[in-house]
Amino acid sequence: MSDQLNDIEKAALDALDAVTSEDALQAWKTAYIGRSSPLMLVFAGLGKLSKEEKPVVGQAANRVKVALEAAFEERTKAVKDAALAKSLEEEQLDVTLPGRPAPRGRLHPSTVQLRRVLDILAEMGFQVYTSREVETDEYNFQLLNFPLHHPAREMQDSFYIEAEGRGDNPILLRTQTSPGQLRAMREYAATNPQNPPPIRIASPGMCYRYEQITARSEIQFNQVEGLAVGENITFADLKGTLTDFARRMFGQHARVRFRADHFPFTEPSAEMDVECFVCGGKGCSVCRRSGWLEILGCGMVHPNVLMNGGYDPKRYTGFAFGMGPERQAMLRYRIEDIRYFWGNDVRFLGQF
Ligand code: DAH
Repeated sequence: MSDQLNDIEKAALDALDAVTSEDALQAWKTAYIGRSSPLMLVFAGLGKLSKEEKPVVGQAANRVKVALEAAFEERTKAVKDAALAKSLEEEQLDVTLPGRPAPRGRLHPSTVQLRRVLDILAEMGFQVYTSREVETDEYNFQLLNFPLHHPAREMQDSFYIEAEGRGDNPILLRTQTSPGQLRAMREYAATNPQNPPPIRIASPGMCYRYEQITARSEIQFNQVEGLAVGENITFADLKGTLTDFARRMFGQHARVRFRADHFPFTEPSAEMDVECFVCGGKGCSVCRRSGWLEILGCGMVHPNVLMNGGYDPKRYTGFAFGMGPERQAMLRYRIEDIRYFWGNDVRFLGQF
């Protein structure tokens, strides 16, 4: 019997030597000191032994049991220590390593400039009015006093979407934000047709022209349209408002000048220049030696346009203006090629 116990002990200890994981430890425990292990069967069989054998075998079995339990405890500790050492080794954290930079998104330069324009106009009392990008010829041209034969209405200059069966009123992508003037006037006038309310809006958005793409012209670009309609609005209001706008945009000392121009929907019409902020008016490559930068077109709303909008031109007057945020961003950041704007090159976009 004592040989058998020695065998049991030896087999158990040999098996324990090979144990290196927590799972194997549990399996070993069940197999060698668990309830149905050979050792426990010896204890179970003690009752069948003679009076003399019983204490001898009992003591020997106890000794083996104590020895195996102690060996198990020791092995358990060794396995745990090894696991801990391994995880410390593997998960070493070097707190001196520099962090990985998380790339941050940012606003597109057009959006930045567009918002700057709208912020200023909002401070000056202009409400943002958004109008549709897909327009009818009627709104984009006819109601704005463009004659039917006007060159801007040629197929080569506009993106027409649907022309068939629409006669003189095809559907196109707006070539300018000016049709928003009519949309706004008609909407405002509808609220009180006898006494249409005054209007002061800024209407931003994308415009499209069927052009050859070059460094200076794109087929899509943003515009911001301004419109003020009311009683007793004069050209002096236009000049005052736009001069104030230029100062808020380009600095309190920005000088401006108005040059006569022509647009079908305004009369008189003008172009506003701001003194070149790069050279201070001395003349440089940005202002092409003129000392001035063209910033926007403007004018007094043409009586026909007021009428088309539901405002009686005998009682109401108004001024309008239109400008391009991309052009302003180009001047501001000295961007030399307009194609960068929609080129989606993050090396360009990341600079703003
Ligand atoms: N719509 C004109 C264009 O795209 C810009 C413009 C000029 C708008 C004069 C206006 C204005 O409101 O009064 O070239």
